[in-house]
Amino acid sequence: MRVFIAVVLLIVVPMTLRDMAIPASASESAGKKAAALYDPNPAHIWNRLYAALWVREDSHGGQYDADPLDPPLWLESEYLLAGPSHARALRVLDEFLQTHAENLIRDPLKRAMLQRDLWAVFDWSVKQESARQMPHYENERRELQTRLAEALRRLALSPKEIELLPDNYAQAVASGAFAKDYDPAHRERAFLPPDLFDRSWIYIDSSPEEFNSGGVAPSHVQAFSGRSRFLIFMRLPKGRKPTLAYLQALWNFPQPWVQGPDSAADQAVINPDLPSFPAGTELALVRQMTLFDGQGNLVPTPVTESVQIRVYYAITATLQGCCPGDMSDIARNSGQDFYQFTLSRAQFFASKAGGLRATGRDEKQLSTFQQQGGDLIDEFSEKPALKKTWLPALQTCLACHSKGGVRSLNSLEKLLKPNRRQPDFGDEPYPPRWWLNAGTTDWKRDRYDWGLLNGYWRSDNRLH
Ligand code: HEC
Repeated sequence: MRVFIAVVLLIVVPMTLRDMAIPASASESAGKKAAALYDPNPAHIWNRLYAALWVREDSHGGQYDADPLDPPLWLESEYLLAGPSHARALRVLDEFLQTHAENLIRDPLKRAMLQRDLWAVFDWSVKQESARQMPHYENERRELQTRLAEALRRLALSPKEIELLPDNYAQAVASGAFAKDYDPAHRERAFLPPDLFDRSWIYIDSSPEEFNSGGVAPSHVQAFSGRSRFLIFMRLPKGRKPTLAYLQALWNFPQPWVQGPDSAADQAVINPDLPSFPAGTELALVRQMTLFDGQGNLVPTPVTESVQIRVYYAITATLQGCCPGDMSDIARNSGQDFYQFTLSRAQFFASKAGGLRATGRDEKQLSTFQQQGGDLIDEFSEKPALKKTWLPALQTCLACHSKGGVRSLNSLEKLLKPNRRQPDFGDEPYPPRWWLNAGTTDWKRDRYDWGLLNGYWRSDNRLH
């Protein structure tokens, strides 16, 4: 197994999102009843399996989004490893395996999604660390993992089926469901750029030597343990040419790194004189699904799981981090508007707008990305008042992107020497609409969780 160098982020999140103690005025639009996602019958075993692993409630009966992008499981969650949730998960998994329920649904889209859903829980169970003085759940973990591994093996698609999964971004654009451009007069309106994968946006790639640390978006690749790849796009107001010129200027900036302040004089920090891009610049972070096929090979799919967009309507000089503070002030100082689209199973299976759903301005989502380890739903059960501090998802972007202009570009260090920049394609045709980011699948191949899953597949104890 290779040793990876931890990537140290220059932009530190000063507080966790749950510490952003501004009471949200918005209503909780995320709460929904458990949906019949995989089959119209809620009692269908696929629905019950999904619900047993992904759908949670707090002890006050509070419900949470039944169709979220990521499972509501944090580093220290004990859900699924202890108590009734563990017993239920094993029971439903056993029923699934014993009745060969993998054969009940052949639709590759649903098989791909269920594989994705079970795989996320498997990987979580590998990294889960109980809080101090809590049991380690070694047996419970193994009980869950053996069953998940077998279900995952049976659900795997053939390479051809994976290749034929839809380009749902294109479907979302073609559906006409979303605005195409940012509209300064309607800043609240989400937009999905039809030309994101075309030549007017610049795809910021990683240098080859960075592939093994997770490519251009290492924090995201790491957080989702390589089950998704992340692509970053940038567009200055007038399109491709000025964007490339700006990237070139960053790259050629004489002294991109300077000595840190007195308190950290031994550290290099980004030169404050680095030029910013102009107002009107747009950035996008696209997350796409990786699966494994029936032979256990990791394969990137054309399915877009989320799109996060930031638009700089103004370039401010603020270096103000977030939070606490007045969120509307922080948002205004940042000079940015934030948008997000996430894949909804319900819409994806119903062929509605490629399954992509715009996050509402007031919509709250449970996030596990770069969060402290505690189980948020358990914390809401214990301290109901905490729930009032839960911010709408689009406000939480400020936790990591509150600074003005180029200062909130978290990938900035990738664009400065001594990193190698993505070569300009010049007159060459731009790469195809989606492509293999070799980095992420390579990265996953060397992960412990992937090795463990493969170990279960090879072991004599395999469940039949
Ligand atoms: C907990 C921190 C955190 C939060 C919250 C967060 N991001 Fe980011 N974001 C990052 C990091 C770190 C990167 C750099 C890529 C990497 O290392 O994975 C990034 C990258 C991006 C990029 C690519 C350009 C860049 O800055 O590198 C976009 C666009 C983006 N985020 C949008 C959003 C939006 C929209 C939201 C809210 C819905 C959001 N982010 C919430 C941490 C965060």
